[in-house]
Amino acid sequence: MEDKKMLFSAIQPSGILTIGNYLGALRNFKKLQDDYNGVFALADLHTLTVKQDPAILRKNIYELTALYLACGIDPEKSILFAQSHVSAHTELAWVLNTICYPGELSRMTQFKDKSLKHEDNINMGLMDYPVLMAADILLYQTELVPIGADQKQHLELARDLAIRFNNRYGETFKVPEGYMSKSAARVKSLAEPERKMSKSDANLNAFISMDDDPATVLRKFKRAVTDSDDKIIYSPEDKPGISNLLTIYCAFTGKSIEQAQEEFAGKGYGDFKVAVGEVVTSAIEPIRQEKNRLLADKTYLDQVLSNGAERAERLAYRTLNKVYKKVGLVLRKRG
Ligand code: TYM
Repeated sequence: MEDKKMLFSAIQPSGILTIGNYLGALRNFKKLQDDYNGVFALADLHTLTVKQDPAILRKNIYELTALYLACGIDPEKSILFAQSHVSAHTELAWVLNTICYPGELSRMTQFKDKSLKHEDNINMGLMDYPVLMAADILLYQTELVPIGADQKQHLELARDLAIRFNNRYGETFKVPEGYMSKSAARVKSLAEPERKMSKSDANLNAFISMDDDPATVLRKFKRAVTDSDDKIIYSPEDKPGISNLLTIYCAFTGKSIEQAQEEFAGKGYGDFKVAVGEVVTSAIEPIRQEKNRLLADKTYLDQVLSNGAERAERLAYRTLNKVYKKVGLVLRKRG
């Protein structure tokens, strides 16, 4: 790969992605892939921490591969692959487990939230999830990790584990930095604007999926929960719904909050919601169409993933072998 800094990020193929995933993560991947050596994964093993229907998971893996490409990830320039295709990820996770303490994992916000949501399935994977994520990042000597705000705590753990390992065994891992959108690190739900917009929300009106057609996008924005004073002003505490819509509008148009407030001064929520729907549609509709075009060619998608895994594997095993040596394991002699 070129002599540039390494960038790593991943997305779970656990449903159709939302505009939160797009603004918080995917859109930045495209922007950054020219300046960094980009490594982008489908975090398919992470999805197993909550119950999945195998047939739907398989479908979602192809959907996400096509979406990555439709959003402009160039598989020649960057590496695009499935986490489960490169076994170094689970191998490094095992070693990192031995320097990570249960208390660090049980106090993770996402673990606590998901434990409440999936009371009938609080499994070891759910708790260990951030260690696998740390392995994903550290294997590639990553310097930059573009993520949404909800993943910040997990990134902190990856940094802590890198530092702890380096202190104990000598310099081995780069310590990664996060990269977050200024405007849209935490896009909120359209139904409960105090909560984040999530692709696993049972209420389909709570999120705009990257698969929603223009009529659906418009209908969902029209239904978005807002207050009743009809003033388009950014104030997350008092007006979480309208503030979220302003955030979305600005993230898609590149306008500042002040500019948007001025533009809609004196106008009602109805007009504003239609305008938000229009800017979102004009950005995501071409992506949706391109994704559907790519989905028709599974052979091509398999080829992209297979090529990506080969390239990722070479980098990953370089780090994993270094780790195995440092901790005192004897490397397998081949041939
Ligand atoms: P996941 O699949 O939940 O989300 C993928 C990316 O989208 C961001 N995101 C959001 N950003 C803004 N507003 C929102 N409402 C919103 N919802 C999601 C997430 O922060 C994330 O960047 N554990 C990760 C996947 C992962 C990973 C990694 C990420 C596995 N290994 C290594 C980075 C590095 C996850 O579940 O993301």
